[in-house]
Amino acid sequence: MLENLEILFSEEKLQERIKEMALEIKRDYKDEEVIFCSVLKGAIFFTVDLMKKYDGDAKIDFVRVSSYEGENSTGKINLKIPLKKENIEGKNIILVEDIVDTGRTFKYLTEYIKEFNPKSVKTCVLLDKKARRVVSFDADYVGFTIDDLFVIGYGLDYDEKYRNLPYIGYVKSN
Ligand code: IMP
Ligand code: MG
Repeated sequence: MLENLEILFSEEKLQERIKEMALEIKRDYKDEEVIFCSVLKGAIFFTVDLMKKYDGDAKIDFVRVSSYEGENSTGKINLKIPLKKENIEGKNIILVEDIVDTGRTFKYLTEYIKEFNPKSVKTCVLLDKKARRVVSFDADYVGFTIDDLFVIGYGLDYDEKYRNLPYIGYVKSN
């Protein structure tokens, strides 16, 4: 698979954009505390880098869902690690995802999180595959909008592999 890999965003390009996103978020929240709620597993790489560049009051939390098998979304969201009310109630939550595709994961999570009475909820995504939406959804913070490509690296996997690549690439079809 890696022989046909075309680099879409280099490590430098990713880090540069993530720094801008951290500044944008700080401008919105100023001195208020934010909870970066990372959607496992894919968003963990992005969340860590974003937090390290965030110069403000911040905590981290995790939720885990899955919907993909291979290159295809199954359409059904499975909640694998739930949230805890005490970490969410009354807080400014930023749901952090690696990529938004059909929009189902975010739709599910933004509804699910409301059960825990957060003070506010925003969404932050590194990549947005706008053309693939099945349910309408716009994230508050978007790193890059991309074409309908299956991408891997920097947290994004193909059957759990390739998350460890420091850049994001896609497989060229010949
Ligand atoms: P959605 O619910 O269809 O928006 O899908 C979101 C999830 O699908 C993401 O969190 C990823 O885990 C996965 N996903 C979507 N597109 C890709 C891709 O191009 N590469 C790897 N995973 C993807
Ligand atoms: Mg994901």
